[in-house]
Amino acid sequence: MTYAPDLQQVVTEIAEEMRKRPDRGDVATYIPELARADPSKFGLAVIDAQGRVASGGDADEPFSIQSISKVFTLTLALGRIGDRLWRRVGREPSGSTFNSIVQLEYEKGIPRNPFINAGAIAVTDAILSGHKPREVLGDILRFLQFLADDNSITIDEAVAASEQRTGFRNVALANYMKAFGVIENPVDYTLGVYFHHCAIAMSCRQLALAGRFLMHQGRNPSTGFAVVNPERARRINAIMLTCGHYDGSGEFAYRVGLPGKSGVGGGILAIAPGKASIAVWSPGLDPSGNSHLGRIALEKLTHRMGWSVFAG
Ligand code: DON
Repeated sequence: MTYAPDLQQVVTEIAEEMRKRPDRGDVATYIPELARADPSKFGLAVIDAQGRVASGGDADEPFSIQSISKVFTLTLALGRIGDRLWRRVGREPSGSTFNSIVQLEYEKGIPRNPFINAGAIAVTDAILSGHKPREVLGDILRFLQFLADDNSITIDEAVAASEQRTGFRNVALANYMKAFGVIENPVDYTLGVYFHHCAIAMSCRQLALAGRFLMHQGRNPSTGFAVVNPERARRINAIMLTCGHYDGSGEFAYRVGLPGKSGVGGGILAIAPGKASIAVWSPGLDPSGNSHLGRIALEKLTHRMGWSVFAG
């Protein structure tokens, strides 16, 4: 008879292994404020189905969640306008970089999926319609605070301002979609909300807490409160699996075998349905813009715990 490995021990071992590795990837520099991140950082937090938290390394240090916020804006947009969202954004992997513009021309301004930048900007625009930017940003922040049960989560204004000054590609994407009528609101309003939700700062522990509903059929396992219905949770996980790592999504599924969403701040949120909500952070990125050590750590964790959506 074999016993399940001790989760805290596995997390501690992985954090120690990652701390020692010389290969750390390269921190993002196209948002100047993110270039200040320390590549020696590594954090890992895992919440299991019983609500137990295992953590290691810098699991309590806040970092810029960047594109991981797109999981939560997608959840909010589906809650507000339901399947009408899919009229302006697709559900197919792009096979392109996260900030690519090429497919938008062929596909008449409809982004491939809600996680590439163009798609996330379209999702933000959908949440914004009928509201003021400040209100919507407050809604997004409060949603994350509610999910993580932690009102201390805030927006890093320096990161938001840094991206607002330099986000020329996103300005191009938004204007291009505006030309096709996919963006309804003034482009600077939509981008203002988008840059600010990308600049939300959270620790691995807070992020793993916020992801709990995705491992638990849409419910917060500690309160039983339904955030989304079980079908919607399954579908958000499906999009994370197929699109969550851009042109690195196939490799992530092959190596880690879980739905996951990365951000250029070096964070990854991964979901083992029924088993765990996992957040990892290491600021150095691979060439696809996904955390280099984050992915390696998740591969080791899923291997040692026997977690995979493809396992029988
Ligand atoms: O729009 C951007 O470029 C950033 N705010 C977010 C990109 C991102 O996190 C891509 N993820 N790996």
